[in-house]
Amino acid sequence: MSEIDPAAPLLLFDSGVGGLSVLGEVRRLLPDAPVIYAADNGGLPYGPKTEAEVAARVCGLLGRMAERYRPRLICIACNTASTIALGMVRDVLEIPIVGTVPAIKPAAEQTRSGTIGLLGTAATIRQPYVDRLEAEFAQGKLLLRAAAPGLVAAAEAKLRGEPVDPAIYQQAAATLRNQPGGDAIDTVVLACTHFPLLEPELAAAFGSGVGFVHGAAGIARRIARLSEGQPMNRIRPDFALFTRDEPGLAALAPALASYGLSRMEFL
Ligand code: DGL
Repeated sequence: MSEIDPAAPLLLFDSGVGGLSVLGEVRRLLPDAPVIYAADNGGLPYGPKTEAEVAARVCGLLGRMAERYRPRLICIACNTASTIALGMVRDVLEIPIVGTVPAIKPAAEQTRSGTIGLLGTAATIRQPYVDRLEAEFAQGKLLLRAAAPGLVAAAEAKLRGEPVDPAIYQQAAATLRNQPGGDAIDTVVLACTHFPLLEPELAAAFGSGVGFVHGAAGIARRIARLSEGQPMNRIRPDFALFTRDEPGLAALAPALASYGLSRMEFL
């Protein structure tokens, strides 16, 4: 294998700002790692799209980004993209690809009531990948799934400093609570990387007695393991890469800066 360029970045990819929840954990474990945070804002949101649309965008964009920026590793910091296209991306790119899939295993270990809620995008919650995780790790538990598309927009707005109607959080909680058996939910899987950015708001909406689980810390540990011993040297400031220039992006600058992303580029 060829030598790793110390300046080669980790590339984290999401449809929008959601992957920042993963980047926060990566920063804690790998403060010296050069990072490109890539957001397919031109394709946001992925949740309402078909499998074919998501797969085509993710494979095409990651292929272009890999060629242009030569990352040492790509993290698909998006449950929707990972549950649909992780295998396809691994088939075509030769660098390590780390995915983000719903944290059903830790939720099943944590629940005391045996009833788990899962909030994701409409595309994620119908994936066979999620069925397989449920069959493997949540046997004997009740797993209730709900799509919460309003939360994706809420996270995008929150990070731009825009107001969000709190009814959005109540609605998300109610779509799980109102399902048969939903009263007993004590653990909720945040199966979309946008949702941990809203954990305080969701905690208030679900009320006490409900814990949240997501994969960000585990993903960061996996990335740290895969890059163990590699030289890392940030020779230019880390940046956020967008697939489309749009007026609202400037409002994201303070949030991006708080994750160490000091400028924006466009693909
Ligand atoms: N952040 C993404 C996820 O983890 C999806 C948000 C969207 O584009 O709908 O699924």
